[in-house]
Amino acid sequence: MEKKNIDWSKLGFGYTRTDYRWHSEWKDGAWDEGGLVSDEYIHLLESACVFHYSQSCFEGMKAYTTKNGDIVTFRPDMNAERMMDSAARLEMPVYPKDKFVHAVIETIHANAAWVPPYGTGCSLYVRPVMIGSGPQIGVAPAPSYMFRVFVMPVGAYFKGAVKPLRVRVSDFDRAAPRGTGHIKAGLNYAMSLHPTMEAHREGFAENIYLDPATRTYVEETGGANILFVDKDNNLIVPKSDSILPSITRRSLVYVGQKYLGLNVIERPVALEEVKGFKECALCGTAAVLAPVGEIHTKEGVIALPSGMDKMGEVSAKLRTTLTGIQNGEIEAPEGWIVKVC
Ligand code: PLP
Ligand code: COI
Repeated sequence: MEKKNIDWSKLGFGYTRTDYRWHSEWKDGAWDEGGLVSDEYIHLLESACVFHYSQSCFEGMKAYTTKNGDIVTFRPDMNAERMMDSAARLEMPVYPKDKFVHAVIETIHANAAWVPPYGTGCSLYVRPVMIGSGPQIGVAPAPSYMFRVFVMPVGAYFKGAVKPLRVRVSDFDRAAPRGTGHIKAGLNYAMSLHPTMEAHREGFAENIYLDPATRTYVEETGGANILFVDKDNNLIVPKSDSILPSITRRSLVYVGQKYLGLNVIERPVALEEVKGFKECALCGTAAVLAPVGEIHTKEGVIALPSGMDKMGEVSAKLRTTLTGIQNGEIEAPEGWIVKVC
């Protein structure tokens, strides 16, 4: 199979139309068979629930070309489960796990020519999305739904990939206690667009959001979880019910414990104590593991000892081990790597 003619070294994180996408519809209480289509457009009613009441949820995953030339994806069962949780919270029909994994594999397979080659540092980003597509004017769930999976080749989410980021603590809140922070609902991202653009205009890569109830504890950023390394090399993982349960973060915790022998502590992390930490990094499917060099707060700048030039030592080991597992260079834990072709 011939790869698409793309300059992988110039690839950023953005939309590219690829050849096939999975399309499935739910009505009268059941999902149809679903299948691959080539049309990237969807035709919707002006009264579709998604436009008015934001009834939508999505996932983000990746496919990789491994060292031995296989195309694989990473822990798709975890994304399937998270999307089931998101759908249930939003009164949407769940897309069953086996159907989800099948749809993802079929879509990657059909677009194999778009999967970046091994060694480019690029990957195929996979975006499953579900919307309330049926008409709804009273505030209620839609009577019908669409599920799609589309893919595109991507490079680093943050420019420079491993270059330390300058981030700030936002004055805005992301997710209310007992709200929707723990699911991947489109509405969580709509509210983050303004703070994100303001952060960018002021020269910051991302916002760190605090717990809205007390504005004391660190939660996460707009598109990634946060990890810290303390002076004793413990991996410190912020804990809160309104943080999205990142699959990358849960995988890094396992990698830290089982591959690197790190002690992992999951607990609420006060902003106040961050100045005592050695390293900070953002983690997610898009972000992978991106180091943070500076955190700007109302009380001043927290300059992490790892600095603005290079990634901290523990973060670098975590990143290399996780990407090594994803690229087939390091043996993966059972079930993490699913071969597509
Ligand atoms: N937190 C938020 C708000 C996100 O949007 C994402 C991206 O998916 C993550 C964390 C990371 O989650 P994952 O590692 O499952 O991609
Ligand atoms: C992902 O990491 O897959 C996400 O959905 C985050 C988004 C900011 C691109």
